Amino acid sequence: MVLLEISVNGKGCRVLVDATTSLLTVLREQLHITGPKIGCETGDCGACSVLIDGKLRRACLTNAMSVNGSEITTVEGIGGSGGLHALQKSFYEHHASQCGYCTPGMIVASKALLDNNPTPTELEIKEALSGNLCRCASYVNIIKAVKSAALKTSNGGGEP
Ligand code: FES
Ligand code: FES
Repeated sequence: MVLLEISVNGKGCRVLVDATTSLLTVLREQLHITGPKIGCETGDCGACSVLIDGKLRRACLTNAMSVNGSEITTVEGIGGSGGLHALQKSFYEHHASQCGYCTPGMIVASKALLDNNPTPTELEIKEALSGNLCRCASYVNIIKAVKSAALKTSNGGGEP
């Protein structure tokens, strides 16, 4: 076993992992941060999406030991201390989830998009979310929600 030291949503965490432990296992089973969901565990659904040092990654495919010293952000940390992020509010306002299982991953992937491209086109939103699957097929409202959040944040609406 090896001691892993990471920061998750701004909080320093130390856990013991072995060579096969995934970041998803660390987050959910050792740190009890359950926003990242277990879907396919093969990198195909995006339910486990997190930001690692600001980059969108699949937690299920990420070896925990490989992220030692990194800053991890899950959906729980997207809003920061200011409350819900504009994306989170917008998903709620646009009814962009049904069962909600894909929603954390969708929001994290959308955050990664807006961080790099604050005013994405509809096509860019679709491309950015193409790795995130929604079994309830809420795609139309998800895209509306991301567009609306982009408008608010890019207009200096004071949202995080
Ligand atoms: S659970 Fe990680 S991509 Fe599906
Ligand atoms: S809202 Fe159910 S999987 Fe997307």
